[in-house]
Amino acid sequence: MEPIRKVSIIGTGSYVPEKVLTNKDLESIVDTTDEWIYSRTGMRERHIAAADQAASDLGAEAARKAIDDAGISAEDVDLIIVATLSPDMFFPSTACFVQEKIGAKNAFCYDLGAACSGFLYAMDTARAQIACGAVETVLVIGTEKMSTFIDWEDRSTCILFGDGAGAVVLQAGGEGRGVMQSVMGSDGSLAHLLSTPGGGSRNPISHEMIDQKQHFLKMEGRDVFKHAVKRMGDTVLQALEKNGISSDEVGCFIPHQANIRIIDAISKRLGVADRMYSNVEKYANTSSAALAIALDEAVKDGTISKGDLVVLTVFGGGFTWGANVLEWGK
Ligand code: ACO
Repeated sequence: MEPIRKVSIIGTGSYVPEKVLTNKDLESIVDTTDEWIYSRTGMRERHIAAADQAASDLGAEAARKAIDDAGISAEDVDLIIVATLSPDMFFPSTACFVQEKIGAKNAFCYDLGAACSGFLYAMDTARAQIACGAVETVLVIGTEKMSTFIDWEDRSTCILFGDGAGAVVLQAGGEGRGVMQSVMGSDGSLAHLLSTPGGGSRNPISHEMIDQKQHFLKMEGRDVFKHAVKRMGDTVLQALEKNGISSDEVGCFIPHQANIRIIDAISKRLGVADRMYSNVEKYANTSSAALAIALDEAVKDGTISKGDLVVLTVFGGGFTWGANVLEWGK
């Protein structure tokens, strides 16, 4: 058995498709207003993938940037984990499609399903695989084409989501403490509050299922809101305690980008509003890509610099949630 090894992020990348859909544009699609959307969510616009772009195309764009940023070649990657709830198809995995697109021919590949929490879960899976000595270099991608699974006649959900992808490369070694222990949790008894009920083995594809629009995302917004605030706040505190870090030492908190009011409520509870990162205004909720895009932007715009402690936290369908702490070493 190899010893537990330190793990660091050595590269980040992100990609959003070209087409922008503003709140004003949504006014001509459903009965809503820019003012309602912005005041209830903090969102101004979101990006929408082209008809010929699938989740793997968005993911491959982000992956290439992360690999370049890491200064490695795609052939150095041992494992690709893709977090997505909008895969190219049920199988094979979206990770296999990404592998082929970027030429990571030495990697083994799989997808990880934890809804919006998928990227953080995948990062922790990668950390564990590297720490135990099974692999050296892992590409973790969060990628979503949410626009495919949204009911564009349902104003309570269609305004909330956007498409995009983010990626990180993790490797053994590096300076500082690197990616530390995560805290994660799930509660399957609340699965019905946020799901896409049709199209799987429970409720297979049929004309009737499609007529009932069961293949689109369904959400009880108010319940999700309350649980998201509580779970992300609790989990951040647990992750800090687990790693022996006080919140005063943290340079940047990056929460799931689902709603600015959720983010503000967590900031207030933890007293960290001055260090809370958000880009929900530009991209809306890109589910498992949201954290990855925000991390890449926070690094590239200088919010995060070498030696900073960073806390990531997520919440999503399942319900699933989690937080992890890392020391930025680049
Ligand atoms: N435009 C105008 N009015 C609207 C819209 C809209 N787009 N959507 C809903 N309304 C109306 C409702 O019909 C309701 O009208 P009524 O009072 O006449 O019945 C009124 O606005 C209030 O609706 P609420 O649902 O109570 O509005 P709320 O303030 O709760 O905001 C929202 C709704 C934005 C969805 C909020 O509940 C939320 O953000 N929830 C969490 C969502 C979330 O985080 N999801 C993702 C987490 S996991 C993941 O990322 C997959």
